[in-house]
Amino acid sequence: MRVLFFLMFFCSVFSQGIEFSISGGMGKRRLKNLQMRYNLLTFIETGTYEGATTGKACRYFEDVFTIELSEELYKKSKERLKKTQITFIHGSSDEELDKLLSHYSPDRTLIFLDAHFSRCDTVKGKNDPPLLDELVTIQKYIKESTVILVDDVRCFKTSFVAPMNEYIAHYPKINDVFNFVKNNYPKGFEFYIIGDQAIIYNTEYYKNKPSNGLKLFTDYYLEEDLDRMIGLAYESVENLTAREKSLICQMALKATQVPKLSFISALITKNLNQVNYKEHMQKARQYKLDEEVLSRLNSL
Ligand SMILES: C[S@@+](CC[C@H](N)C(=O)[O-])C[C@H]1O[C@@H](n2cnc3c(N)ncnc32)[C@H](O)[C@@H]1O
Repeated sequence: MRVLFFLMFFCSVFSQGIEFSISGGMGKRRLKNLQMRYNLLTFIETGTYEGATTGKACRYFEDVFTIELSEELYKKSKERLKKTQITFIHGSSDEELDKLLSHYSPDRTLIFLDAHFSRCDTVKGKNDPPLLDELVTIQKYIKESTVILVDDVRCFKTSFVAPMNEYIAHYPKINDVFNFVKNNYPKGFEFYIIGDQAIIYNTEYYKNKPSNGLKLFTDYYLEEDLDRMIGLAYESVENLTAREKSLICQMALKATQVPKLSFISALITKNLNQVNYKEHMQKARQYKLDEEVLSRLNSL
């Protein structure tokens, strides 16, 4: 079963060209955890695609809104989910999000920012990705309880993951996104990288700071300090929870073009469990990790 899952995972990743994985959307458990942890009522998504995440979100949130630029995808997902209470909006998130938030205050709301051209049958807006515009809009209406999730962090520029290809070569640097939030959002709002997503929330309002492991991972990621990220994988494995380890692994797995990230992933999963470790080793070999790194890994 596990082997089958990995085969399906890798096939789907490779068939989409690695850099985007849009078919499955966000997991049910993650949506439920976020809703419960922050006691949220409303879910707003930019970029509906086929409604995979939207369809799951309506099980846990009282109100669900989703914005899609492609008319075809908007119609298809609306038809597929017509028995739900979801509000489907057709248009570009840079304009539609402003209209929506001017009517519905984003109090106790999870805003999931996932609008961008992702090949297949998706479309491109005038600014792709619209993330910085969306963050500017949210800033106008933000409440202390608003929680924002930015998807596909691996696509944003760092010296080690971009430009991976022509579709994301023009993306902003993840540091620009971080600095925008740091310099413009109300006091207390912080930005952490968790897996392949960034979460932005008011740590003072929620009295909830993430663990040192995740804080450090975010710092090193933003500083583009791969060596310290590897060091973190060695040293803080003991201090991370199983969930945190698995989120870091997810991030590393998705960025498999980067041999060192595969290596971090291999290191953590070796400590986590032997089965995944073998998969990661195979990936590390595939991406031609140098021999020295491989032998260090083997000797652990
Ligand atoms: C990665 S997919 C979304 C996946 C979906 N959120 C899920 O979890 O299943 C990105 C979607 O954003 C749409 N999109 C691109 N630019 C957009 C924009 N400016 N406004 C709204 N949607 C946009 C694309 O057509 C595509 O369907």
